[in-house]
Amino acid sequence: MKFHIITYGCQMNVYDSRMVASLFEMDGLEETDNPEDADIIIVNTCSVREHAERRALGRISSLQKLRREKPELVLVVIGCMAERLGDKIPGADFFIGPRKYDRLPEIIKKIVKGKCQISNFQFPKECIPYPNPDGGVTAFLPVMRGCNNFCSYCIVPYVRGNAVSRNPDDILGELRYLRERGVKEITLLGQSVNEYNFGEISFPELLRIIDREALGIRIRFLTSHPAYMSDDLIDAIAECDSVCENIHLPIQSGSDRILKLMERRYTVDGYRHWIQRLRKRIKGIALTTDIMVGFPTETEENFEETLKIVREVRFDFAYMFMYSERKGTKAALFPDDVLLGVKKERLERLIELQNGITREKNEELLGREIEILIERKSRRDNLPIGKTRTGKEVIVKMQNAKTGEYVNVYVESISGWTGIGRTHKREK
Ligand code: 5AD
Ligand code: SF4
Repeated sequence: MKFHIITYGCQMNVYDSRMVASLFEMDGLEETDNPEDADIIIVNTCSVREHAERRALGRISSLQKLRREKPELVLVVIGCMAERLGDKIPGADFFIGPRKYDRLPEIIKKIVKGKCQISNFQFPKECIPYPNPDGGVTAFLPVMRGCNNFCSYCIVPYVRGNAVSRNPDDILGELRYLRERGVKEITLLGQSVNEYNFGEISFPELLRIIDREALGIRIRFLTSHPAYMSDDLIDAIAECDSVCENIHLPIQSGSDRILKLMERRYTVDGYRHWIQRLRKRIKGIALTTDIMVGFPTETEENFEETLKIVREVRFDFAYMFMYSERKGTKAALFPDDVLLGVKKERLERLIELQNGITREKNEELLGREIEILIERKSRRDNLPIGKTRTGKEVIVKMQNAKTGEYVNVYVESISGWTGIGRTHKREK
C-alpha cells in the first residue's frame, strides 16, 4: 500500500507531515510522489487565513475525481483546518486535528487496517517516534506545541491548543537522531518558541544545553514573541557557537493602538528596544518579521506608522499579510472595516518598501567571504546552493562542493535575491 501527503501551512505542519509519513512507513506503507498511485492521501491543512483554508478545500475537492475512480482510496484531512471544521469538510474519510496527534500511532494503525470508524478522538498521552528526516541537510525539531497568547486575530490557540513544552531529554534524543542521519541544520520550532519552559529550564537554557550537543550542527529557532524576549536569550544566542545570528520576531504593526487591539503585549518602543539590544550584542544578526495590514480600525495614519518602523528597523526579510477574519477569535467581534481594496493597496505599498530593503540587505553580502552550508543543487544550473548563518541563499560556483558541506565563499554578484559566490577570492 502507498500513501501520498500534501502539506499546507507553517513549518510545524511540514514537521507533522514527516511524523505522519514515518508512522505510515512503520506500518509498512510506502510514500509516493504521485497521488494517483496512492491508496491513502493525507492533506495537512492550515487555518491561519481564509486563503489558506480555501486552497486546501480546493485541493480536497479536486481529489474527488480520484476518489470516484478508486472507491477504496482513503482521504485523511489533518492539521489546523481538521481541528477547526472536522467532518464539516466535505469529501474526506478521516479528520485528525493537532490536538489529537498524541494518538496518531493508534489512529494510523486503524486507518491502515480499514478499521477506523470514528472521526474524533480524545487526548491521552502516547509516545510518538521521531520522524525520519527527508534525507536533506536541514530539519525541524519542535520544542513546544500550542500557544497560550491569544493574540486577538489568531486562530492558532484554538486549533493547536495550550502551550506544552517538551522534555529536554526528548529534544536531545531527537537532535542526536537527526545528527546520526546527517542533518547539519536544525530549526527548533514553537508557535512562541522563546516562551519555552520545562521545569527549571527556560528557552535560553535550552539553547545552551542543545549547543553542547550540536557538534557542528547549525541551530535556528522560530517563532519568537517580543513579549518573551530577554537579555538572557540575547546572551545565549551570542554565546552559543551553534546558534545562528538570525531571529524571526514578528512585529505585526507599527501602531501602538493597533498592537493593543491585537493584544500583543508590547509597544513599538518596546520592540525597538529589543532590536537595538540584539544588534548591539550580536554582530551582523539578521532580523526577519511578520507584518499584517488592514486589522480592524487601522487608519491610513496607523498604516504609515507601520511603514515608518519598517524603514527604521530595515528587516532582512518580512512575511506580509492582509488581515483575514477568523471566526471564534476576539478580533472577529470587531467589524472587519478596512475595505478589501484598501487592504490590498496597503499590502502592495508595504511589499514594495520591504522588497527594496531586502534587496539592499542582500547586497551587503557582496565582496564578503562567508560560510555557506550547502543544502542542495540549484534546479536551473545544477550548482550547489546553500545558506549563510544569517539565512541568506548563495549559489556556489563550484561543482564539487557537496551537499552537507560547509564552504567559505566569496560573494561576487547577486542575482535577484540570491548571492553568487566562488570558493576562492579572485586575484585582481
Ligand atoms: N489574518 C492575517 N494574518 C494572520 N496571521 C495570523 N493570523 C492572521 C490573520 N487572522 C499572520 C501573523 C502571524 C503569521 C504566522 O500569520 O502575522 O505572525
Ligand atoms: Fe501552522 Fe498556524 Fe497554519 Fe496551524 S494555523 S498550520 S499552526 S500557521
